Amino acid sequence: MMRNRLVISKPMSSEDRVSLLSTTDPEEVESVRLSAVEVLLKTCGPEVYYRGLIELSNICSRDCFYCGIRRSNLDLKRYCLNDKDIATAALWCAGQGYGSVVLQSGERCDDAFIGLIVRAIHRIKAETRCGALPDGLGITLCVGEQSRETYQRFFDAGAHRYLLRIETANPDLFARIHPKEQSFETRRDCLRILRDVGFQTGTGIMIGIPGQTIEDLAGDIDFFIDEDVDMIGMGPFIPHASTPLGSLPCPGKDRRMLLSLLMIAVTRLSIPDINIAATTALEALDTAGREQGLNFGANVLMPLLTPVKVRRDYLLYPGKPCLSESSAAFRARLEESVLKMGRKIGYNQWGDSPHVLKRRVADSG
Ligand code: 5AD
Repeated sequence: MMRNRLVISKPMSSEDRVSLLSTTDPEEVESVRLSAVEVLLKTCGPEVYYRGLIELSNICSRDCFYCGIRRSNLDLKRYCLNDKDIATAALWCAGQGYGSVVLQSGERCDDAFIGLIVRAIHRIKAETRCGALPDGLGITLCVGEQSRETYQRFFDAGAHRYLLRIETANPDLFARIHPKEQSFETRRDCLRILRDVGFQTGTGIMIGIPGQTIEDLAGDIDFFIDEDVDMIGMGPFIPHASTPLGSLPCPGKDRRMLLSLLMIAVTRLSIPDINIAATTALEALDTAGREQGLNFGANVLMPLLTPVKVRRDYLLYPGKPCLSESSAAFRARLEESVLKMGRKIGYNQWGDSPHVLKRRVADSG
């Protein structure tokens, strides 16, 4: 039987996005998925890029209503890796040919923390330059809202990508899931400053937040387009019992999973040439969640490199996978599934998106 092909207007309108995201019929979902993969392969190719993820500290000055490492959560042992631990994880990453590393942490703006990040960037760059990676590992930071000066220091030290999720592009919903001291506008302005400083910028959202609508999700993709971001990391909201949002009703697991996969596919169809990550949160809902993300149009995976001894303390949400699995075991498992789906791993490359490359050409022309 011929599978029905999607007819999608170009450029896709916000209404088109709402209608695709509302799909529940399995055949229609499959057709959205196939279209997204076709667009991905045509625009970005079959490579899946790895970013080794180092969760360097769960100490956080923020109190976001959804997050397990919020400062009011006292059930947690707080940790901060030292320079050597970070360097060891990064060197392992380079040795595996992963090409890029992500330094993620709870948010802090004090000098000790900023100093730790700057030193880590210098050290990783100095120690990972080699024949296969002449410019060393690519470094992505995910350490929250900082001042322009701090962003500039990070950039000058050698980091070149920065992830800062907007969490939701609906300012009212943003206000409902964050304490008063945080604002949607500040978060958005940080993204603009990051771009201005020279970072490739990434953002993302959570899917299935209590009170979030399909229109909100379609609006999130409009936000990605308007802000001209280079990469996206998004995944399902997962209620955490020690947080205020943990007790509010949200869509069921299957619904959040489907919506998350559709968000990946519809984002791919809307902005074909960006990098989209299949995030760990997908795997908290389904053991093959990350593979599913790749099958719906994602092209980036973030293998966990955090030392096993502190992994369970970086618990943003319950059900986080790979808590005890070694990074090597994880590597073998993921590689097998990537190859099985007919894709390949972009070893020893930074894996910048065609979106970035096009902008570079436009800026220099
Ligand atoms: N469910 C899903 N994702 C979460 N994050 C934090 N808490 C949760 C949760 N309960 C995500 C946020 C944050 C990223 C580091 O982790 O989107 O930006």
